[in-house]
Amino acid sequence: MRALVTGASQGIGRATALRLAREGTDVAIHFLHHDRDAQDVAERVRALGRDAFLIQADLRDLSSVSKLSTAIESRWDTLDILVHNGGSYPRQAFPETTDVDFEEQLRVHAVVPAALTRKLLPLLRRSPSGRVIFVSSILAFEGSKHGAPYATAKAAQLGLARSLARELAPWITVNVVAPGSIDTAVLAGDSPEQRDERGRQIPLGRLGSAEEVAAAIAFLASPDARYITGATLPVNGGLRIG
Ligand SMILES: NC(=O)c1ccc[n+]([C@@H]2O[C@H](COP(=O)([O-])OP(=O)(O)OC[C@H]3O[C@@H](n4cnc5c(N)ncnc54)[C@H](OP(=O)(O)O)[C@@H]3O)[C@@H](O)[C@H]2O)c1
Repeated sequence: MRALVTGASQGIGRATALRLAREGTDVAIHFLHHDRDAQDVAERVRALGRDAFLIQADLRDLSSVSKLSTAIESRWDTLDILVHNGGSYPRQAFPETTDVDFEEQLRVHAVVPAALTRKLLPLLRRSPSGRVIFVSSILAFEGSKHGAPYATAKAAQLGLARSLARELAPWITVNVVAPGSIDTAVLAGDSPEQRDERGRQIPLGRLGSAEEVAAAIAFLASPDARYITGATLPVNGGLRIG
């Protein structure tokens, strides 16, 4: 099996790349700034006996689509798993946001994933079990008090995922994981008090780990999920139910 994981240098993407490699998958590791971390992930994947290579690209920029697709097409003639994970959550009060903030977030979470999926469709269709998995957010449903561009883009991403689930069936399944509060760099700016408060609000009593989200992604990528498409799997400790 072969997978492309965007944003695989850190956090959820890193955990996903390692989890998929442990399950026998070669992984293309995309990153933006953290080349050493990405290199470390690649070495760990290779130590697990799988192939790994790196692709650097800024998902805010449409040219990332050809950079990523060309790198994949030059190495592989099929792609089994495409994980749209890369992105960040800039904290911004709405009055201070700009049109560019909205455009950039929409590009990272919706426009580039759509274009990249389109570009890689021929390879995904050659797989006997093509899987596209989006890493969305609880904020796609709930909105954000300090990140309207991000929440807007994550909601757009949901519409994209659900449309692709309909249109790419029956060859390719398309699903979403929607994490709640996960202990990665995204929450690194929180004070210990803010972390405790976040934990108190979660029925399961703590933040989630990147590995727990990776487990959900690995399930959706697995043969056991063959009859699941268009679904959103919450990974949020009960923070949002229903
Ligand atoms: N952590 C949470 O609580 C949480 C909750 C809900 C949803 N999510 C979603 O989960 C996904 C992964 O987040 P994470 O928590 O694992 O964060 P993270 O540890 O900060 O990792 C983010 C990854 O995305 C890459 N990235 C960020 N902006 C990018 C851009 N403009 N172009 C290309 N790559 C970019 C980063 O690359 P470099 O490090 O190499 O720059 C990194 O590999 C994101 O889509 C995020 O919205 C996270």
